[in-house]
Order: sequence, then C-alpha cells, then structure tokens
Amino acid sequence: MKVERLTDEALERVQAIEADAGPYRWSRADWLSSLQSDDCFELICDEEAVAVAAFSVVCDEANLLNIAVPNHAQRRGYARRLLVHCLDEYAVNGIKHCFLEVRRSNAPAIALYESLGFSLIGERKNYYPVKGGREDALVYLSRLQRGEQERAAKITTAEEKDDA
Ligand SMILES: CC(C)(COP(=O)(O)OP(=O)(O)OC[C@H]1O[C@@H](n2cnc3c(N)ncnc32)[C@H](O)[C@@H]1OP(=O)(O)O)[C@@H](O)C(=O)NCCC(=O)NCCS
Repeated sequence: MKVERLTDEALERVQAIEADAGPYRWSRADWLSSLQSDDCFELICDEEAVAVAAFSVVCDEANLLNIAVPNHAQRRGYARRLLVHCLDEYAVNGIKHCFLEVRRSNAPAIALYESLGFSLIGERKNYYPVKGGREDALVYLSRLQRGEQERAAKITTAEEKDDA
C-alpha cells in the first residue's frame, strides 16, 4: 500500500471515486481547483486507488476538505490509513492543527474522525445545501503531534476489540 500526491492528471479518477462513494459530490471545477492548488493524495492498494483526500494548508494549519472511498472498498480501514499517513506527515513538517467540517448526518465520517482523535469544537448552522433545505456542519479539530494519529487509531481499535 502506498500514498501518492495527486496532480490534475488525476481529475477523472478522483471524480469517479467520489461518485462511487456517497451522495454528495464536488463539481469538476472544485476538484480541478483543489488538484491544482491544494494537497491531494490517494491511497493505492494492489494498483487500485482506494481512497482520495484533499487538504488545504495555510501556515501551520491544515484543513481536510474532502475524503472519499469507493463504495466497494469502504469499511476496510482505507480512509483511516490515508488520514493517519497525511496527518503524521503534516505533523513532521510542522503543521500544528487540522480542522474539518462534516455534515451532522454523516455518521460514518464522524465516527472516522472521532476514532482518529478529532474533537468537536463548534457547528455552523445551515451550512450545507440539502434537498429541500440546509444542513448544519460540525467543526472538528485535531492538534497534530508526530505519531499521535497512528497512536489514536491503534487505541480505538484496541478499545473496540475489548468491547467486542
Ligand atoms: C467516510 C468514509 C470516507 C469512510 O471511509 P472508510 O474507508 O470506509 O473508513 P474506514 O474503513 O477507514 O473506517 C475507519 C473507522 O471509521 C468509522 N466508520 C467508517 N465507516 C463507518 C460506517 N459506515 N458506520 C459506522 N462507522 C464507520 C469506524 O469507526 C471505522 O473503524 P472500524 O471499521 O474499525 O469500526 C467513506 O464512508 C466515504 O467515502 N463516504 C462518502 C464520502 C464522505 O462522506 N466523505 C466525508 C466528507 S466530510
């Protein structure tokens, strides 16, 4: 398994992965802009891209803008693995915080972020458009320390095994 940084050559691929991941999608223009200006990564397993993520970075702050795993590859730990890799790399390179926003209804993503030690720090009312209305965003923060994300992920896994 390996993580690779993406350029705009990956546009079709990331769009296909996101389209297969869930109901909400970035536009082609959003992905193109992010591939050209932000940090975009993919996790490759057996020569297949199994997770993609986009971050923006300003000074010592990262923002997770998007992450997606194709439907057939979900619940195999790929999103966790990609996030742990990226957040540890950022920590090593002096990035101190990672923020993210997530739809209040997105239970899988919220569980993923909390399993990695992200803390809920606020909410933005009516932030996202949804069919027939708006939905709140929850705002999460992780303070990055080298090795911390990996450690948090391992602790969560061990706790879950104890509970099983
Ligand atoms: C959210 C998403 C990226 C998770 O990807 P994934 O590779 O399936 O997640 P992982 O297998 O790494 O899961 C890690 C942990 O997250 C949580 N989790 C992930 N999917 C879950 C689900 N469907 N239900 C409950 N918890 C879930 C669990 O705690 C899981 O650990 P466990 O499997 O040991 O219990 C994926 O569901 C997805 O692409 N969704 C659509 C796009 C999206 O919503 N992106 C987030 C935008 S903010």
